[in-house]
Amino acid sequence: MPDPYFQTRFADRIGGPNYGKGTEIYKFEKIKRAKRQALAENPQRSLVDFGIGENDEMAPENVRRILSEEANKPENRGYADNGIAAYKEAAARFMHRTFGVELDPVKEVNHCIGTKTALAMLPAAFINPGDVTLMTVPGYPVAGTHTKYYGGEVHRLPLLAQNDFFPDLGSIPADVLRRSKLLVLCYPNSPTGKTATVDFYKRVIDFAQTNKVVVVQDAAHSLLSYDRKPLSFLEVPGAKEVGVEVHSMSKGFHMIGWRMGFVAGHERIVQAFADVKDNSDSGQFMAVQKAAAAALDDDSIPRQVRAKYERRLKKLVDVLNRCGFDCQMPGGTYFLYTRSPSGLADGTKFENAEAAGQYLITRHSIVTVPWDDAGPHLRFSVTYEAADERAEDALMKTTEERLKQIRPVF
Ligand SMILES: Cc1ncc(COP(=O)(O)O)c(C=O)c1O
Repeated sequence: MPDPYFQTRFADRIGGPNYGKGTEIYKFEKIKRAKRQALAENPQRSLVDFGIGENDEMAPENVRRILSEEANKPENRGYADNGIAAYKEAAARFMHRTFGVELDPVKEVNHCIGTKTALAMLPAAFINPGDVTLMTVPGYPVAGTHTKYYGGEVHRLPLLAQNDFFPDLGSIPADVLRRSKLLVLCYPNSPTGKTATVDFYKRVIDFAQTNKVVVVQDAAHSLLSYDRKPLSFLEVPGAKEVGVEVHSMSKGFHMIGWRMGFVAGHERIVQAFADVKDNSDSGQFMAVQKAAAAALDDDSIPRQVRAKYERRLKKLVDVLNRCGFDCQMPGGTYFLYTRSPSGLADGTKFENAEAAGQYLITRHSIVTVPWDDAGPHLRFSVTYEAADERAEDALMKTTEERLKQIRPVF
């Protein structure tokens, strides 16, 4: 295709005149291609897909029913702007019941069309050219991408086993620290599965105050916590003075596609977020907000979601350990993040996790997501489709039969 007349007009942040011409293939595209190859070469072998990071179930029936009722009411038809009071109030009630956190629903809570959009918008409130966002890696990159769009920089804080998968806040060079404005955390952590502790959050609050940094804690997986009761950053004294927590309806309520979440915490940061948001979207459909408010009031939903993914993770950990992996039950999320084999007993060597992941898909039709940002790891998601526990067990049996043959070496 010849270049359009505006090819030289693309902004540098997305590649400038070279936009759309890159030949680099991204990780998820490589996984897709390997899946296609596995299916083409072995059509009789089922694909065991631990790659998908989305809940495998619909939202519960009572939540869907409210959506359909509310969708038929004329008063819900218009722009929702920065959100309806009923959702903010339900969010405040939820935070109080679940975490003992007191929030003013008018000033300290604002809805968002999924946490992805909130993480995309928050840098607009703080980042000028040359400012730095501190981000943990591996992780969800959206706040970093937008930091760079505004001319800022990202400083990566690796999550390593030797630091118990917490960022080493003492490792940041003085020049970077001076320019740092945002610290983006994510607990329970995706993909490592690590949950935060009160002690870690206390250190974060102290770090934020000392260095005048604003904390954004991404709580997308907050209700999927197994090794402790779900913990909110805002529970820890002083947290509300230094930042906000971003909550999602996606994972803990099986509401991935509904696009609902909320930002809660310091009143002035919530206000700044709401101002940016007001200039970016016109709010989620009010019927969705009302159904989401009902979901937030129903503690049985996250309880069931948590029990399901905890059960699946335990089964997977047992299977992988029996097949020569060395993994523990994650503290939270629906991901198992485990060291990737460096090779196989037959002498095969893997250069990195990506190579191991490609081998598992193409040779055994087992899909994982490789992470090489902080040492080679594979992420297994337990959001695979299985109608009931029998189907889950059958899938685990297939996984075990296939992995038993490979004899991984670490
Ligand atoms: C760590 C993390 N943060 C945020 C999100 C975005 O979630 P939402 O569906 O609320 O936009 C995801 C989704 O995968 C995630 O894994």
